[in-house]
Amino acid sequence: MIEFEYSGKLITFEGIEGSGKSTLAVELHKYLKSKNYEVVFTREPGGTILAEKIREILLSRFCEISDWTELFLFLASRYEHTKSLILPSLKSGKIVICDRYLDSTIAYQGYGRGLNLEIINNLNAIATLGIKPDITFLIDIPEHLAVERIKNKNLDRIESENIEFYRRVRLGYLEIAKIENSRFVILDGQKEILDLKSQVIELVSSRL
Ligand code: TYD
Repeated sequence: MIEFEYSGKLITFEGIEGSGKSTLAVELHKYLKSKNYEVVFTREPGGTILAEKIREILLSRFCEISDWTELFLFLASRYEHTKSLILPSLKSGKIVICDRYLDSTIAYQGYGRGLNLEIINNLNAIATLGIKPDITFLIDIPEHLAVERIKNKNLDRIESENIEFYRRVRLGYLEIAKIENSRFVILDGQKEILDLKSQVIELVSSRL
């Protein structure tokens, strides 16, 4: 695996739908900018023009996608995003905050859809150019709360999955966090958002 030299930091946010991870990612971005850090805020799937186009296909409810095709599209989006945005930003010493990254694929396509985890890990290593996040926040909520929180939303293709799918994804995330415990921080997504925000800021500040 290619190893790159860079001085930036990659911070990712993960969790099932309705966990509040995107709000926390935005709050962290605002905070770091207010402290004059050079920060890039991005998301997956997406983050570049091509990757955002792949995102549209992936989330459209009008397009049926089979499981391996779904995996390849997420990985194509990730490779593009990593190569043209994440790696250059890390090389120039920036902090990159990414709303979802490689762990989403392990949790959703691996544990959720049941695709082979070893194959996913190998393909993820290519798609990320071997880059691993420095810190990954997993905002954990029970699957019934996820369903409750998003019930009034206009659901995209993946959000329209059933509660059993969310349950597998949630348990998958907890499993990944156990294996990769040096970079994972699990937060209880049932807590108040202000409380969670302080936890995120405190932890990131202690590691910069
Ligand atoms: P998004 O609107 O970003 O969801 P959220 O607001 O919950 O972050 O949609 C991304 C969807 O794509 C989400 O349901 C999770 C899913 N996903 C995967 O299944 N695999 C992946 O590798 C990634 C990055 C996302």
